[in-house]
Amino acid sequence: MTDMEAGILEDLPEIELISDEGLRTATIKAWALALSKSIFTRVRDIPGEANPGIMVMRRGGQDIHLRGVTKLALASVDYFAETFPEAVIDRDVIIAGGLCHDVGKAFECDPVNQARWKADASLVGRPSLRHPVYGAYICLTAGLPEAVAHIAACHSPEGDNVKRSLECIVVHEADVAWWKISAASGLTQDGTIPDHFAKMFEPRNIRSSTAA
Ligand SMILES: [Fe+2]
Repeated sequence: MTDMEAGILEDLPEIELISDEGLRTATIKAWALALSKSIFTRVRDIPGEANPGIMVMRRGGQDIHLRGVTKLALASVDYFAETFPEAVIDRDVIIAGGLCHDVGKAFECDPVNQARWKADASLVGRPSLRHPVYGAYICLTAGLPEAVAHIAACHSPEGDNVKRSLECIVVHEADVAWWKISAASGLTQDGTIPDHFAKMFEPRNIRSSTAA
């Protein structure tokens, strides 16, 4: 195992919960590929933000977000599996999809790319590819199944143009809940909440002892 792969497992220990060995390996491979094409060497070094400069967490990197979304999504799966055992939800796809849904942020949040796009957006756009699009490219290149690439591509508003899979719905709802609850709890930096969220609530003050 390379140092980069060991770092990925350390930052995203829920990878071990994926029961299928091939899916587990491809999940690590996807993150290793994304990081190797970026300035980042660890998942935890990618800033904890929904989009560059938007919903910027007071503390915690992208690893905290990915683990949180995966845990919320798994809680949904476990609840429905227990209460409605007739509902068929793929737990492995949820875990791999939860951990890889933002794999494209290694590209979109890369400060080198950000500076390039900001310098002249007329050349390749700003950003050229949002993280869902780039993330789908990474997932397919790394050998992850279509079901996981679909979650990377369509967990965001990009997915409003298609019918989402059941697993994508679960991750999408967990992702929105994670950001909405974080922002309403006052965990995001002042002035970084977009209007469509800001009109829904007034962020509560966090405890001063843990304030960043
Ligand atoms: Fe996310």
